[in-house]
Amino acid sequence: MKKRLTAAVTEQIELAPGIWDLYLKIPEAAKEAAAGQFVNLYCHDSAHLLPRPISLAGVDKEGGILRLVYRISGAGTGSFAQLQPGDTIDLMGPLGNGFPLDAVHGKPIYLIGGGIGIPPLLETARELKGTDRNAEITAVLGYRDSRTFLADEFAAYGMVCIASEDGSVGTKGTVLDVLKNANAGKRTDCEKQQILREGGCIFACGPTPMLRALKEYAAEYGIPCWLSLEERMACGVGACLACVCHTTEKDEHSQVKNRRVCKEGPVFKAEEIAL
Ligand code: FES
Repeated sequence: MKKRLTAAVTEQIELAPGIWDLYLKIPEAAKEAAAGQFVNLYCHDSAHLLPRPISLAGVDKEGGILRLVYRISGAGTGSFAQLQPGDTIDLMGPLGNGFPLDAVHGKPIYLIGGGIGIPPLLETARELKGTDRNAEITAVLGYRDSRTFLADEFAAYGMVCIASEDGSVGTKGTVLDVLKNANAGKRTDCEKQQILREGGCIFACGPTPMLRALKEYAAEYGIPCWLSLEERMACGVGACLACVCHTTEKDEHSQVKNRRVCKEGPVFKAEEIAL
């Protein structure tokens, strides 16, 4: 059973309006952490008792640092934005399963993120590229508008393609439009890139409509695809069932078509889950 730990804030900046980049010194958690996992962050304010799940945007095992990039979506996450270097904050983690990095060894990887689903893919890119895995990486990142974040950091690991809903930067539309345009040979910011060439795999994180569309796209083209789900959570450790998602197969243990996103996820093979 994971323990509640206390981390020290070392740095925090606002990356884009409402998007914050928080660095925490917490060696016990950092040494175990892997790409695609998350931590449950506790608010100081007792009015907000439930912790907030925040994915890991970066892990520095040697320095004992976890990097969390989050969006302010209410009073709880709003209180995190007040944290200053030297403050402390409680957390539990790392939690969840993470992306299966070794299962895709030697294959081109497409990291596809939408909005606040983008940050966990940055640590995924680092672990896929910055180690002896040396994977070929293409990041396809979807934003609402020109207020992008983290895109320049992905460029250190491979090609970066951007989509924005209002067309102010990159391809107008969604990450799916980038994939479809590139596969159709149309001019995009991924011009000349045959984006999902044979043998490629997808790791994705973002809002449910995006994941649903990607699941269909991957099934149509026979592309191995793993999706990281964004669910509301409570306990974060598999006890409360607040986070269940529907699956296509019955769980052997419970005999129901449910899995806990916090415990068996947040990453699932696309065909295993019903979206
Ligand atoms: Fe409690 Fe997942 S949040 S079981």
